[in-house]
Amino acid sequence: MSGGHLLSTSLTTGDSASPRIVGGEGASFLLDDGRRVVDASNTAAPLGHRHPAIIEAVRRAADSPVVNEGWRWAERDEAADDLLAVAFAGEDWAGAVRFFISASEANDAVLSLSQALTGRRPLVTRERAYHGGAGLAREMTVQPQWHGGLSSPERILPAPRLAEVREIACPQGSRVSGDPGIPLDGAWRSTTSTELDGAAAVLLDYSQGGTYHVPEYQDAVAELARSAGTFWVADETVTGFGRVGGWFQFQHAKSRPDFVTLGKCMTAGGAAGGAVVFSQRVLELLEGSSWQSYSTYRSHPVAMASIRAHLAVSASEGIYRRALELDKVMFGRLSEMAGAHPGVARVDGRGMHWTIELNGPDWREWRGQETEPLASRVVAEALREGALIATSGEQTSVFLAPPLVVSDAELETMFDALDKALAVADQAADRG
Ligand SMILES: Cc1ncc(COP(=O)(O)O)c(C=O)c1O
Repeated sequence: MSGGHLLSTSLTTGDSASPRIVGGEGASFLLDDGRRVVDASNTAAPLGHRHPAIIEAVRRAADSPVVNEGWRWAERDEAADDLLAVAFAGEDWAGAVRFFISASEANDAVLSLSQALTGRRPLVTRERAYHGGAGLAREMTVQPQWHGGLSSPERILPAPRLAEVREIACPQGSRVSGDPGIPLDGAWRSTTSTELDGAAAVLLDYSQGGTYHVPEYQDAVAELARSAGTFWVADETVTGFGRVGGWFQFQHAKSRPDFVTLGKCMTAGGAAGGAVVFSQRVLELLEGSSWQSYSTYRSHPVAMASIRAHLAVSASEGIYRRALELDKVMFGRLSEMAGAHPGVARVDGRGMHWTIELNGPDWREWRGQETEPLASRVVAEALREGALIATSGEQTSVFLAPPLVVSDAELETMFDALDKALAVADQAADRG
């Protein structure tokens, strides 16, 4: 337990020093000890905190009638139109949108739809992937620490798996050290084809587990999936809406997916929301059938108003392009730090999403959650220095993803805090 009756949810400093957030403004959080710290890892806040356009959208939508997914709601139609017209401009293969409560739900729904359309059961993901905590999305979350059950250093009680999930290898290199990761050679193609054979869908994301986008990888998986009759779902929950520069990560390669799943940043924090974008090719397969899938609070008026406000601000102020502009700064500063800190094992990232993997046990050797793993101790030190960084529940990695509206001064605070905090990892490496 943490903080009275709430069961612990911390992904920052571990149980003992969990910071309590009481407010936020721009790219900063206000803590209950009165300190203002930089929000350094928040993929749901592209426009930062309390953006006036989001506040206004939420206020306006609070005056809406109570509608559920079963009634036609005018602003839901408009949000779908805006999403395709603004974020998917020029992507003529994209034909329709369905909204969900979260990215987890969107992934679950699109995977079961793929199973229904193909009549196949197996699903494919890449190693070290995270796709959500519910339904088939959780099944496709193959990071060992997110097994959905209980863990402590003494015992691991995983939840039983519900789906047949296959994993494919992917290049997990390091942009900073120049390591390109595994080669996409004949052996890789042959094993990947075997895994895709007879599968309903392959779901790929480009950030989780510190695994980033490689255009040739996307194109190769897309081609192999197409020839196996397997749907390719691009999970842009984290990378969408400008996190890596440009609206979506898949646009950095040639191939185009059958579905895109979205969430997190889509509503810029105004409300919970997810979406599936369907290709025209899939829409043709759906013709003459109705998709029997429904949930009361999908596309809630507050979520719809928030999506539209986010799209309008991001497009008019060019926020979706900002990560590309800042990529050089992030690369430069993190390369320096990787060189200066023996506690750093690997740094990779794109745009405004970067992972710093610390020396310690390999992620595959995860043996049960410690109360204060190395990553949390580094985060605790960074917090003392003025930046709130998060972990992904892995014991030896932290990630940086500040709001896209972060100022130069706030970025400097974040870099300084991380630099000082990495001394904790250096000491651990020294002892280790
Ligand atoms: C790539 C990816 N997909 C899906 C999800 C699930 O999103 P949510 O937790 O909002 O349902 C996440 C969450 O971190 C994610 O990183």
